[in-house]
Amino acid sequence: MAYRHIAVEPVTPTIGAVVHGVNLGDTLSDETFAEIHDAWMRHCVLFFRDQEMTPEQHLAFGRRFGPLHIHPAAPYAHGNPELMVIETNRDSKRNNGSGWHSDVSADEEPPLGTILHLHEVPPAGGDTLWASMYAAYDALSGSMQRLLTGLTALHAADYTGVYGDHPPQREFPQAVHPVIRTHPVTKRRALFVNSSFTRRIQELSVRESRALLEFLFEHVKHPAFQCRFQWEAGSVAMWDNRCTQHLAVWDYYPATRRGLRVTVQGDRPYFEDVQEDSGTQGRLRVAAAG
Ligand code: SIN
Repeated sequence: MAYRHIAVEPVTPTIGAVVHGVNLGDTLSDETFAEIHDAWMRHCVLFFRDQEMTPEQHLAFGRRFGPLHIHPAAPYAHGNPELMVIETNRDSKRNNGSGWHSDVSADEEPPLGTILHLHEVPPAGGDTLWASMYAAYDALSGSMQRLLTGLTALHAADYTGVYGDHPPQREFPQAVHPVIRTHPVTKRRALFVNSSFTRRIQELSVRESRALLEFLFEHVKHPAFQCRFQWEAGSVAMWDNRCTQHLAVWDYYPATRRGLRVTVQGDRPYFEDVQEDSGTQGRLRVAAAG
């Protein structure tokens, strides 16, 4: 896809693209913004290098996508809970986002997207991996797709002790969401369970739910659904939480990796029967083959 204001270089055919020719700290024209939005919907995760962007400009860019989301418990910068701090250093007991997840999926209205700007990166390591939940859905057999469609799952967050002494912003959320959701923009179907927040499939027995979730949590890890980004200081990644999951690798102890995250509020996930069953036709067949 050729654009007039940006250049977009896919990282894989399935997920991820590097965007050239734009600095997100600048006031973007409506046309440039629309092209970024279009590329985001196509590639699910966008990467930008060498971005000069103050926290205020980062907030302003995020607000173009909608009202900003406040994390239930994470520390924030400049007295503004919309500016989440991402930092892991030699004193850290844990790394944010070390398990596969879609951000705060336990919210009734989980965030639609997240924009992370890293200011300091380790000399090596600290990559983030994303997986396409469109691809994960498409790779399932038609029979499994039909079983999952119409099921709902409980998502619950428990941040006790996770952010040290930082007091939570609000009660820890929990919500029931469809296992397969329709993306409100692309109308594609995406698998919407993740091992960090999804606890139980409501319509199944405990044993059935455990077995099916275990399968799905393994399924989403297939490398064919993924891209991986090596950060530099000044890099920005923005991901669509409605159709991706991600995992941040902590392989750089005792180095520091830090930046700021702005997250955009989303809608309540829903399932709408608007897409013909794709089965595995013309799609990745990795799961069936594996
Ligand atoms: C997160 O889940 O927001 C953290 C992602 C990262 O640090 O790469």
